Amino acid sequence: MDAFEVTGGNPLSGSVLVTGAKNSVLKLMAAALLAPGTSTITAVPDILDVSVMAELLRRLGCEVEHDREAAVLVISVPEVLHHQADYDLVRRMRASICVLGPLIARCNRAEVAVPGGDAIGSRGLDLHIAGLNRLGVDVHNQHGYLIATAHDRMQGANIWLDFPSVGATENLLTAAVLAKGTTVIDNAPREPEIVDLCNMLVAMGANVGGIGTATLEIDGVDRLSPVTHQTVPDRIVAGTWAVAAAITAGDVHVKNGRAGDLEIALDKLVTAGAHVDVGSDGFRVTMTDRPKAVDVVTLPYPGFPTDLQPQFIALNSIATGAAMVTENLFEARFRFVQELHRLGADVRTDGHHALVRGTEGLSGAPVEATDVRAGAGLVLAGLVADGVTTVYDVSHIDRGYANFVEDLTGLGGKIRRIEV
Ligand code: UD1
Repeated sequence: MDAFEVTGGNPLSGSVLVTGAKNSVLKLMAAALLAPGTSTITAVPDILDVSVMAELLRRLGCEVEHDREAAVLVISVPEVLHHQADYDLVRRMRASICVLGPLIARCNRAEVAVPGGDAIGSRGLDLHIAGLNRLGVDVHNQHGYLIATAHDRMQGANIWLDFPSVGATENLLTAAVLAKGTTVIDNAPREPEIVDLCNMLVAMGANVGGIGTATLEIDGVDRLSPVTHQTVPDRIVAGTWAVAAAITAGDVHVKNGRAGDLEIALDKLVTAGAHVDVGSDGFRVTMTDRPKAVDVVTLPYPGFPTDLQPQFIALNSIATGAAMVTENLFEARFRFVQELHRLGADVRTDGHHALVRGTEGLSGAPVEATDVRAGAGLVLAGLVADGVTTVYDVSHIDRGYANFVEDLTGLGGKIRRIEV
């Protein structure tokens, strides 16, 4: 178990490059299962979750080569796949559930270990199951596995989602592309990662209409072809760098960051007192003063992303004034606030609200990263805390941030990885 030792006090400055999105690449890897042959995915982030998903694909019968230097994954998919995703991998990475749709589409049967809850919430699967039922798939739970069976080829259907679930939509899309007839998914999420997946499916030969809107229309085809596809840049990593610039009163050029995917978050930083300049190859965030506290309400895209909520709580904790942060997606996402208290932050939570009163300075202390984004939030807090903050359990951070220590060091941050 490694830890990060962060010494606060240095404003960040310089340029940092954003690579492909974790929340996209894992789904693109699963989508590759839909076409026998060799698919290539580029702009692949060098993160732990990619290795876990690669291992899962291997167990399903694929050959996977990951060239970390070139950020390329080559996935060779056989005609006949195994259809079981084991608990030992699914428990390491909840996103493994996204092989469910492709496996049913290819094998008419899938057995995927039930992921269970995690550090940020209980995370149901009811919308995945109800949607698959509409496509004619029988799903039941047996000995900890979701057993999904399509007795015949799946039949397109109209599906109304109670909530625009990203994961459920990914499974329904990757099932419906090979179903018979037309599927309409209403109240669909519009996240850039969903758009990225749709674009890859279209390049594979799928018919998907309404991409980027709340209504997706899919006309099933008999067979899809392998492709080469570039992963969309990671908006959450880009947003984390933006907050890092603002919290340290720094000046950071976020190369390859797509400001259009982060409109509300960047606008919040402007309200907090930052300058944001959008260029053709990314955006630049500069801050000279102590930030002003900003209210935040997490919502599905294009609303404020829940995955940037901990970073904004960190920002608010050293701001002037007080702010209300409302979390609408994951009920346990405030768990990390207890760790922030160890640095002297004044945050009071009540249900899905957190009242953050800014303090003039945080004080370095040992803390624990409870999940990937909480971990990032704690590192940002450590960058402005007095003295040393040791962030334990950084395997969580490694799941979503490639070269975090190297990139932060390149920007002038004082951070090092230590073995515990
Ligand atoms: C994905 C992202 C995660 C991000 C989230 C919202 C990945 C690997 N993770 O998670 O980082 O924060 O989107 O943008 O891409 N829900 C149900 N029943 C279901 C499905 C979801 O109740 O069947 C609930 C969840 O518990 C949660 C909410 O809906 O409260 C949103 O979940 P969802 O959009 O599915 O997020 P994920 O795909 O799990």
